[in-house]
Amino acid sequence: MAYFHNKFSAISIILVLVLMVNTCIGSNFNQDFELTWGDKRAKIYGGGQLLSLSLDKISGSGFQSKKEYLFGRIDMQLKLVAGNSAGTVTAYYLSSQGPYHDEIDFEFLGNVTGQPYILHTNVYAQGKGNREQQFYLWFDPTKNFHTYSIIWKPQHIVFLVDNTPIRVFRNAEAIGVPFPKNQPMRIYSSLWNADEWATRGGLVKTDWSKAPFTAYYRNFYTQTYSSSSSRSSSNGAWQSQELDAYGRRRLRWVQKNFMIYNYCTDYKRFPQGFPPECRH
Ligand SMILES: *[C@@H]1O[C@H](CO)[C@@H](O)[C@H](O)[C@H]1NC(C)=O
Repeated sequence: MAYFHNKFSAISIILVLVLMVNTCIGSNFNQDFELTWGDKRAKIYGGGQLLSLSLDKISGSGFQSKKEYLFGRIDMQLKLVAGNSAGTVTAYYLSSQGPYHDEIDFEFLGNVTGQPYILHTNVYAQGKGNREQQFYLWFDPTKNFHTYSIIWKPQHIVFLVDNTPIRVFRNAEAIGVPFPKNQPMRIYSSLWNADEWATRGGLVKTDWSKAPFTAYYRNFYTQTYSSSSSRSSSNGAWQSQELDAYGRRRLRWVQKNFMIYNYCTDYKRFPQGFPPECRH
């Protein structure tokens, strides 16, 4: 019996090892993305190492991934429009297609020189969003590249900035809240003019004398979790990726010091009571 027990343990360990994280290294924008609009305003340089989007009075620009993703971790480094970026929005998001689409959003709302960008986040499930959280950043996002990541698992979505979790959206299907988990998503980004609302609710207009406005992208990196092996070991692997004590502490630090809007505390907006995922 002991022999069989040990053999069984050995098999479980092997199964866990077989459940390898598939990592795709060597980001190349030519290989992984297509430039979708804005003509020459979207560009790939350096043999695929760097991408830029720009916006002028005539048009913005955008790109999208060739592949679709269903769960995984997606990292991208962005350097946002510098100087007077008021009125501009750099959207970087995952989205499926169709009227009941799912979406996981980062949007960077520009500002006048020296004033802070707002990082706007949202999650759509089955066509419904309205789950905004907004943050200031603890650094100037126009000086250097910083890494913006999404960890998307069946149990939760984590938004990270330079590896610091800023937001966790948990799967609350158990209490009737839809969660993105059946529709594969592409990665999209665009730089566009939204001066009717972006900066201080539309008070500050885009200064076209500063155009073109340009944002840069590099070091795209994805990890997908293959779940082809047995149920118990794959559960273990998913769970081992949740926030550890340090991650939870960092999340609290960001939410306490940098969060400027949370739909879950907006009493005016939900006079009849907060959405169910807000009460936990
Ligand atoms: C821009 O700066 C103003 C003044 O500091 C601030 O109130 C606002 O939140 C900033 N960001 C945006 C996108 O408006």
